[in-house]
Amino acid sequence: MRILGIESSCDETGVALVETTGDALPRLLSHALYSQIEMHQAYGGVVPELASRDHIRRVLPLTRQVMAEAGAQLVDIDVVAYTRGPGLAGALLVGSGVACALAASLGKPVLGVHHLEGHLLSPFLSADPPEFPFIALLVSGGHTQLMRVDGVGRYELLGETIDDAAGEAFDKSAKLMGLPYPGGPGLSRLAEQGDPTAYKLPRPLLYSGDFDFSFAGLKTAVLTQTKKIGPAAHTEGAPERADLAASTQAAIVEVLLKKSMAALKSSGLTRLVVAGGVGANRELRRQLNEACAKARVRVHYPELHLCTDNGAMIAMAAAMRLQSGAQVAEARYSFDVKPRWPLHELV
Ligand code: KG4
Ligand code: ZN
Repeated sequence: MRILGIESSCDETGVALVETTGDALPRLLSHALYSQIEMHQAYGGVVPELASRDHIRRVLPLTRQVMAEAGAQLVDIDVVAYTRGPGLAGALLVGSGVACALAASLGKPVLGVHHLEGHLLSPFLSADPPEFPFIALLVSGGHTQLMRVDGVGRYELLGETIDDAAGEAFDKSAKLMGLPYPGGPGLSRLAEQGDPTAYKLPRPLLYSGDFDFSFAGLKTAVLTQTKKIGPAAHTEGAPERADLAASTQAAIVEVLLKKSMAALKSSGLTRLVVAGGVGANRELRRQLNEACAKARVRVHYPELHLCTDNGAMIAMAAAMRLQSGAQVAEARYSFDVKPRWPLHELV
């Protein structure tokens, strides 16, 4: 069975084709991605209306590219999957509308996918795929969650952020240091030249005894620190700026690391899956690898280029939902989108 996946929940248009054979792990045949980041950088963040319009421009050329690279025709598609939520309503409507129209024209069924489930299952596309059950650390621009995952569609929320997401903490702090949107990758590159102990920044809820997170206070502390440092806090090449970046990253990573290890310990599970854009962070990976090796925990990540939003994870999640019987694809082409949609409400 061949499943086309379309992702358009935020500022990346992604399309991919995966193939399933029996119960074997689905195989990625091809995928294509267009990032709108450069367009939004002029505004310092995503402009929803511009995002929707650009998805319209990109989605069909990307679909043609994916089909050509897989050496397949549109008639070879068995199911069309799309991101139904959560995300920007207008942006979601583009992918959903195109997916349902394409499927209707081909007479094939459609399947709406939860964006976070896409992230969560994206490590199954890697060379070292995980096995159920596992603890998942989902860290993206909009979400920070720890989940217990017993199978496809069997997600128990253990804890989540009560305010900003980890990616948001990276992005907002980076902005205070004069780095372009999205600041996570730039901040982590800058941090490599800095001293992570240079500035004392808060580690909110570190010892709260639960699995919740809070990053809003960190952003405020970074703001206070930039004021104390003065212009050097956002001057290229200034050592203070690199030190502040390293200290900020250290605070975020320490909280993510300690809470993940605590969730593993309390569940008794010995597998950790890290997914979402912040999962690309090298320092987070380094510290998690070290701690997991010590605790005899296997840790899995998506391939680096599949950490941030993409179509492959949507096609993959659809394929795994179909294989596991968690969902059936239907030839019903009326659609809605769910801009807010908690993952643990998914069955
Ligand atoms: O998963 P994603 O592409 O989009 C959402 O679903 O939100 O995640 C984007 C987030 C952004 O906040 C971005 O700054 C962050 O992931 N990010 C990183 C890195 N690469 C992306 N944060 C820290 N270090 C990175 N290397
Ligand atoms: Zn995402």
